[in-house]
Amino acid sequence: MHESLLKLYRDHVHFFKLMDIFEVELDRLKQDGKTSNDLITEVVNYMRDYSDTIHHPIEDHLYQINLARTDDGREALEQLLVHHQAIMNMTREFRLAIEQLGKPNGLSIDEVEKLGRDYLDHQRSHMTFEEEKAFPLLVEQLDPEDFDYASGALPADQDPLLAPGLQERYPALHSYLQKHG
Ligand SMILES: [Fe+2]
Ligand SMILES: [Fe+2]
Repeated sequence: MHESLLKLYRDHVHFFKLMDIFEVELDRLKQDGKTSNDLITEVVNYMRDYSDTIHHPIEDHLYQINLARTDDGREALEQLLVHHQAIMNMTREFRLAIEQLGKPNGLSIDEVEKLGRDYLDHQRSHMTFEEEKAFPLLVEQLDPEDFDYASGALPADQDPLLAPGLQERYPALHSYLQKHG
């Protein structure tokens, strides 16, 4: 399997893990009426900075190449391209909601929780759908040069979870991962 596709799978492993943390924080929000704002904000920032900015655009390139070449899996890939846009908007919306929580014009805890649950469901089902439908299609249809092209079209930004700067960029997430693995 091409290294770029292996990276996409590895990203998903990280994203699933982060979504588990996100879920714990949402449960806490529901139970206690508060959350560790730093942690949930950093998880969402990470998803914005890495998933929405690097991971999804690489997938977009791969899906577009596939779509240009064959009608196989067209419906699934077109849906996934739409998901990427929707998820980006949901990331932005949830980030704002958490920032405004407790402020006079902010959403209620129930409303924030609902946004969070929708976000979680979308992220998880999106990744599962990709792994079941899209990634096997890419393996079948694309050549190594296509993967090189798609990953080369984006800046070579490393997954922050693997980069040494995690502690500085995401201190709450870093300390959570140190404690909980
Ligand atoms: Fe995706
Ligand atoms: Fe993905």
